Amino acid sequence: MSVKNICCIGAGYVGGPTCTVIADKCSDIKVTVVDINQRRIDEWNSDTLPIFEPGLEEIVKRNRGKNLFFSTDVTQAVLEADLIFISVNTPTKTFGMGKGRAPDLKYIESAARKIADTAKSAKIIVEKSTVPVKAAESISKILKHNSKCTGFQVLSNPEFLAEGTAIRDLLNPDRVLIGGDTSKEGQAAIRALSEVYERWVPKERVLTTNTWSSELSKLTANAFLAQRISSINAISAVCEATGADVSEVSYAIGKDSRIGDKFLRASIGFGGSCFQKDVLNLVYLCEALNLPEVAEYWHQVILMNNFQRRRFVNKIIKRLFGTITGKKITIYGFAFKKDTGDTRESSSIYITKYLLEEEARIVIYDPKVSEDQIRSDLSDCESFHSPSDFDRYVTICKDPYEAAKDSHALVICTEWDEFVTLDYERIYGLMEKPAFIFDGRLILKHEALRKIGFQVDVVGKDF
Ligand code: NAD
Ligand code: UGA
Repeated sequence: MSVKNICCIGAGYVGGPTCTVIADKCSDIKVTVVDINQRRIDEWNSDTLPIFEPGLEEIVKRNRGKNLFFSTDVTQAVLEADLIFISVNTPTKTFGMGKGRAPDLKYIESAARKIADTAKSAKIIVEKSTVPVKAAESISKILKHNSKCTGFQVLSNPEFLAEGTAIRDLLNPDRVLIGGDTSKEGQAAIRALSEVYERWVPKERVLTTNTWSSELSKLTANAFLAQRISSINAISAVCEATGADVSEVSYAIGKDSRIGDKFLRASIGFGGSCFQKDVLNLVYLCEALNLPEVAEYWHQVILMNNFQRRRFVNKIIKRLFGTITGKKITIYGFAFKKDTGDTRESSSIYITKYLLEEEARIVIYDPKVSEDQIRSDLSDCESFHSPSDFDRYVTICKDPYEAAKDSHALVICTEWDEFVTLDYERIYGLMEKPAFIFDGRLILKHEALRKIGFQVDVVGKDF
C-alpha cells in the first residue's frame, strides 16, 4: 500500500513542523494537520505562525494551500486519510491516580475515539505523541470496540526533534523509529510509513522494531539525555566547592569517545515540555511494574534538576549580601532554550518564582517570549497575594539595556546568542554597584566582564 493522504491530529510543536516537512518532501501526498484549537489553526493559516522555529515559516509558506492544509475539520481529514498521526499533548497528570507522575492520556484517547467514530475504512494509525509502553494496545482496543471498520494497524513512531532545531532534525534525523505488529499486516503498515520517510531519509536510518520497544525507546532516549544534564549539573556543585571548573571537566570527559561531548553543558537545569514529563512517565511505569529501585534511580534525575535550580538562586541571594528584598534583578531569557518562544517548564519560571519569594523586583527580557506568556507563566506564583502584585514586582522589557537599568544583578537564564554580543560596558554603567552577573548558561566572556568591573558568578566554577 502506498500512502496518498495523511491526517495529523494535533497542530502543536510536533504535528506542525513534522507534517510541514512531510508535505515538502512528498508533493504527491496530501497532508492535513487538524486541531480542536481554532486559534492555533487560524495562526497556522496566517502570516504569524503559532510557534517560532528557525526555517519553519519558509517551508510552511511554500507548501500551504498546495498539499499542506491546516484545519479544524477533524472529521473530514480523518475520513479522507489513509494514514493518521496522533500528535496530541500528553502532559503529566495534575490530579487523581498517578498525579504528578503519570501522563494524562485523555487527549490520546479522545483522538482514538474520534477516529473510531468517524472512519469508514481501515487506516494506519501512528502514535507520534510520547506515550507509556503499551499505549498502542489501548488505541487498538478503542478502535476494535468502537469502529464499524476492521483492519486498523497501530504503529509507534516517536518523534526525536528538539525545539529550536526542529527543521534541521526533521530534515536530517539521526534515525526514524517505527514499531509495529510482527504480523504480515503490521509489517505492511511499517513498510508504508517507512516509504514516506525514505523519500528523504537514508533507508539505513529508518529503524524498525516491535511496538513496545519503540514506545520504550522514546522514554529511554529522553531519560538518558536528561540524566546526562543532571549528571553534569551534579558535578557542577562539586566544582564550585573544590576549585574545579565544570567546563574543563566536561571537555575532558567528552573527549572520551565512549562518553562523547554532547549534552554536557552545565546549566540552571533542563526545562522544556518533555524531559521532566517523560522521566516521570518512566518512573511511574517502573512503580506500576513493581520496580521501586528502578523508579527511584530515574527519579533522582528530576530531584537533581530541582536541586540545581534552587542552588543557583541560593547562590544569588548569598552573593547579594544575603538579602534581595526590594532589589531589582534582571532576568535575561525566559524561553527554556534559545531559538524558541516556548517556556514550558522553563527553569526561568522557577528561578523567577524563587526570587519573588524573597520579594525581589524582577525585570524580564526575552527576545521571543510575549508579555502575555510571561504573565500566564507567573500567574500562579505563591508570593502574589493580589492580581496587582504582578505589576508591583515584575516588569517586562522589550530592550535588554532598559531591563538592566538600576539593576543589582543580571541573571542569564537562556543561552540566546544575542546575550553574548551585548555592550556590557554600557550595561555596567546602567547598573547599581557592585554590579553582579550570574551566568547560568556559561555563555559570556567572564574574564572580560570582570575587567569591566562586574562581580561574576557562573554555574560550576567559583571565582
Ligand atoms: P502541543 O501541546 O504543542 O500540541 C498538541 C496539540 O494537540 C494541541 O494544539 C491540542 O489542541 C491538540 N489536541 C489535543 N487533543 C486533540 C484532539 N482530540 N483532537 C485534535 N487536536 C487535539 O504538544 P507538542 O509539544 O506538539 O507535543 C505533542 C506530543 O509529542 C507529546 O506527547 C510530546 O511529548 C511529544 N513530543 C514533543 C516534542 C517537542 O519538542 N515539543 C518532541 C518530541 C515529542
Ligand atoms: C528534547 C530532546 O533533545 C529531543 O530529542 C526530544 O524529541 C524532545 O526533548 C522531546 O521529546 O520533547 P528539547 O526539550 O526540545 O528536546 O530540547 P533540548 O535541546 O533537549 O533541551 C532540553 C533542555 O535541556 C533545555 O532547557 C536545555 O537548555 C537543557 N540542556 C540541554 C542543558 O541544560 N544542557 C545540555 O547540555 C543540553
